[in-house]
This record gives sequence, structure tokens and C-alpha cells, in this order.
Amino acid sequence: MKLGQTQGKAEKIKTASEEEIENKLFESLKKHELPDYLLYTGTYGAKNWLKLNESETFPVARQLKVLMEKNISSIVRFIPTGMSLVSVGVGSGEKEKILLEELIKKNQAENPSSDSVSIRYYPIDISSQFVDIALEKVSGLPVEKQGIVGFIEEMPFLKRYWRLPVLFCILGNTFCNYDPEFILKLVYDNLEQGDLFLLDANLLPTCRPGEGAKSARKSALGTYASRENALFNMYPLIHYGMDTEDFDFELLLGQVDSRIGEVYRTRKSLNILKDAEINIGQETIGLKEGDIIRMGFTYKYTHEQIIAFLDICRFDVLNSCLNEDRSNAIILAKKRI
Ligand SMILES: C[S@@+](CC[C@H](N)C(=O)[O-])C[C@H]1O[C@@H](n2cnc3c(N)ncnc32)[C@H](O)[C@@H]1O
Repeated sequence: MKLGQTQGKAEKIKTASEEEIENKLFESLKKHELPDYLLYTGTYGAKNWLKLNESETFPVARQLKVLMEKNISSIVRFIPTGMSLVSVGVGSGEKEKILLEELIKKNQAENPSSDSVSIRYYPIDISSQFVDIALEKVSGLPVEKQGIVGFIEEMPFLKRYWRLPVLFCILGNTFCNYDPEFILKLVYDNLEQGDLFLLDANLLPTCRPGEGAKSARKSALGTYASRENALFNMYPLIHYGMDTEDFDFELLLGQVDSRIGEVYRTRKSLNILKDAEINIGQETIGLKEGDIIRMGFTYKYTHEQIIAFLDICRFDVLNSCLNEDRSNAIILAKKRI
């Protein structure tokens, strides 16, 4: 990693280069793994996510944006003026724009005669293109901006760039792509007293007694097994030369044990149907019929389960917004000292 290397625009710091990411793709595929962040990187990643996010069959992040719009004043009521906004996995930054506009209004209402309480905004993503898009999205807003290209896993390093206190956001259901205890420990260890944590999640529907597994399966598989989502997950292999006929995308839903009991989690893989070769830069990887490439996962929680994880990982919930059918939530929390 190149510490603090600034490339291109002065307002963007790159802690991971495209070359390093392509190398990670090669190393992962050699081990028959394709971690989810590699779906968003490369020249195609940002474009593919924006297309999936707009598609009729994949409303996850869009519904969370609607929930944010509807509840923005109740969320911002709990956020003191003068906080910096840090958002990791920012994507196109549309939810952050909604937050910033409301935070600016609040600052102006509380300090009508001064503009000294400026807000700093740090959009962070592993995709350099997304950092550019998120910065551009707020170009008209009176905020100080510093984009960072980097991995959430490097939070101890990323936090050196922030002005405290921060409102730390993980939005667009990204929280559910991580092991809950891992991500909550990472956030807990790297937030300071006075910082806040905002996350959102697409939830399991509330179901009638005895219908749990059936309705969980229907809800998760309905969303993630669409053709559009399958293509999004298959794209890296297609991009590097494989034919869609030569492999398929498989999505399963299972239950995993945890400190709060069993929770649902998807499991994704790409199954190779025919011997093939893919070329990444100068390197070639041979894949054989029957090979399985393991991919990332998405946890499907109920609202109560997320609250229970926050509690055991020592977070206090300040505010939680749910939509009518409890299928989406935005939760504001702070670490318990
Ligand atoms: C599901 S999308 C959500 C995007 C956006 N927050 C939204 O609400 O639409 C996940 C985002 O996280 C980014 N991402 C994935 N893995 C990451 C990682 N390890 N570190 C930082 N960003 C990551 C992706 O590039 C992508 O922009």
C-alpha cells in the first residue's frame, strides 16, 4: 500500500491502485475465490453496479434510499453539528448527498450568522470511479471534501485522514456483506467516544409462525437470483474472456450459527461447466469443468437480530427507522464506553 499517495485530483487519496486490484483478482481466482469487492472494481465495476441498482429486479439499495429520504429529519435530529461524514463503500454517494444537505440545513439553522461550522466529507470506496462520482455528486454543496480509495478492512489506516468527530456510515446493505462480529469489532475499535455509526440493511420479512424458512428463502432468492444479479456476479469472468455458456451462477440460502442464535446467509458460487482459460494482464488461469469459484455472501437478518448484534458488540442504538413492512432499516448507534 502506498501511504497517502495522491493521484489525479488533489481531493482524492489512493491507498490501493488498479494494478494492485487486478493482481488481487488474479491471486483470488487462482485459489478459486472471487471476493465481492472485485465485482465493483476494474473499468466495468462501477458501471455494472449502477446498472444493477437501477434494474427493476434489484431494488435493495434503492429502497434504502427511499427510507433515508422519508426519515432524514428524524435521523439528523440525533447528529450534533460539526461532525464529519465518513462513508465507506460510498458507491455513487446518493444517500450521503441526502444526509449532507440535511446536515448543512441543521448547521445553518443553529449558526445563522456564521459559516464557521464547516462539514467535512470523506467518501471512501475500493472503486476509484465511485469516489470520483461521489465527489462530483456534492460539487455544489458547501462542504470540504476528501475522497479516499481504499478498503474498509484498512480502517485503522484510513482514519488517520479524518477530522473528528465523525458520523461513520456503511450504507446500501453493505453491512450485511460482512461477518457481523468482524465488522462491528472493526468499527468499534476504530471509532472514538463522540463518533456515531449509521448503517442500513435490507431485512428478512416478518413472517407468520412456522413460515420462517419458506419466506426467508423466497425473499432472499427472489432478489438475488434474478438474471441481472447473476450477470453482475458473472461479469469479471466474462470480462476476462469466458463465455456465459461455460459457467453458471449459483445462489443458496443457509443458516449459520452465531452468538445470537441461527441467522440466514446466502452462499454464492460460479460453477465451471466447461474447461476454459481466462487472461488477466500477462497471466493466464486455466479452469476445469467441475471447478467451483467461491464468492461472497449476504446476511439476511431480522431487525431484532441486528439490534442484538449491536448490543453484544457494545453499541447503543440511538434511533432506528423501519419501513411499514419492516423489510428495510436504518440504524444510528454509538459505541458504549
Ligand atoms: C452494495 S454497494 C453499495 C453502494 C452504496 N453505498 C449504495 O448505497 O448504493 C457496495 C459498495 O461498497 C464498495 N466496496 C465493496 N467492498 C469494499 C471494501 N472492502 N472496502 C471499501 N469499499 C468496498 C463497492 O465498491 C460498492 O461501491
